[in-house]
Amino acid sequence: MQGDAYLKCINPQCGLKYSIESPNVQCEKGHMLDVKYKNKPSVNLKEIFYKRRNSEGSIFNESGVWRFRELLNFCQIDTENIEECSRYLVSLDGAEGRQSKPYRMSKAAEFINISNDNLWLQPEGYNPSGSFKDNGMATAVTHAKMIGAKKIVCASTGNTSASAGMFAANEGINCDVYIPAGQIAPGKLSQAYQFGAQIVEVDGNFDDALKESLDDAKNHDGYTVNSINPFRIEGQKTIPFRALEYLNWESPDWIIYPGGALGNTSSCGKALMELYEWGWIKKIPRIAVINSEGASTLSDLYNGKFEGEKLRWNKGNPNTELISRYYDHLDKEGLKPKTKATAIQIGRPANILKGLRALEFTNGVVTTVSDSEMLDGMSVVGLNGFDCEMASGASVVGIKKLISEEIIKKDDVVIGILTGRQKDAMLPVDYHNNPENKFAIPPKN
Ligand code: F0G
Repeated sequence: MQGDAYLKCINPQCGLKYSIESPNVQCEKGHMLDVKYKNKPSVNLKEIFYKRRNSEGSIFNESGVWRFRELLNFCQIDTENIEECSRYLVSLDGAEGRQSKPYRMSKAAEFINISNDNLWLQPEGYNPSGSFKDNGMATAVTHAKMIGAKKIVCASTGNTSASAGMFAANEGINCDVYIPAGQIAPGKLSQAYQFGAQIVEVDGNFDDALKESLDDAKNHDGYTVNSINPFRIEGQKTIPFRALEYLNWESPDWIIYPGGALGNTSSCGKALMELYEWGWIKKIPRIAVINSEGASTLSDLYNGKFEGEKLRWNKGNPNTELISRYYDHLDKEGLKPKTKATAIQIGRPANILKGLRALEFTNGVVTTVSDSEMLDGMSVVGLNGFDCEMASGASVVGIKKLISEEIIKKDDVVIGILTGRQKDAMLPVDYHNNPENKFAIPPKN
């Protein structure tokens, strides 16, 4: 399969191509890159992927990411040769993505007002570092190793840094993490320390931290593992792969994500584009992105709330000046993203263009929910015996809102992604101690 995979700029006016071994995660013109494959994977792989769930002792079959390795074979290896897999593919002993699949959650369905048969929620919080990030970190660190990177670098609202730190420690490479000081959940911060990452505290928000980390990577030979890295996106494609496989590759009507930097939106869009192009799925599910009310850049721009223009991918000609003017407006007015769901407290979603492309391909929608709604969403997931963090609660209440607005129809089949597990121990305690909260079960004495 040598020569099958390459990198390509997503901007159709540019379209520059690069070798898969290029160390640059962005196009030299500053655009985003996609990993592309020349060959079309055989549809018979569906059966192989299913069989691999009986892993026969191979961690690459156990892994919920590498089980699908033919669909992300940027290393261009013989995917059935386990020795070759071991040499190239980075894995946390097969644990990344292994436990994630869609579940029914009847109490969430009741709260949302949808039939229990039509709602699936897929917890990604049971990944080794506790969030969906491990899906994409396995692939990004695989590429980092492939090109001989000595240090990985990221900015993070907490989960990316936990995942990067864990993989770096496992692989014996250095890891610098830039975090907005005082703005990440304590459980996430402690993970970065535990895995021996070098923490760099930035006096600012995530957007400031990302800027600093990109400068650091550029000036000091670091390898960026944020979701602007196209190899992160490859691994995150397995989130919809697992969901679709569980539904026998029958597309649902909707896939719902909380929206932060929009890596998930981008990867889901790319996965669906590829599967549709290969004829693996016949129907394109619609993506819905749920922003927090306090960090609503995508929603504002997509829904025409700024200057009255609805920002669109527009077949590769998005109005990037509108985005710049929006950011200038935020700066001028001193408007900072603000939500208790710190995971998605992001004002400048780095993947906005790929996100728009995904929304165009899937006829997607974007909406917002409040902090108190997200806490209800998080808490009702708990009542079904599943853990999730506040940002993930956005998927639940986003579905509820879109159903009440009749954008999602009552008989639509919906998959909501629960992106991470609880790492802010006091959030549920505070929630349940306030009897006014919808699902509160206050303590007795
Ligand atoms: N949910 C959780 C739990 C997250 O940690 C993040 C992002 C998102 C949703 C948003 O996903 O960026 O793909 O739109 N966390 C990043 C981090 C930014 O640094 O951990 P997205």
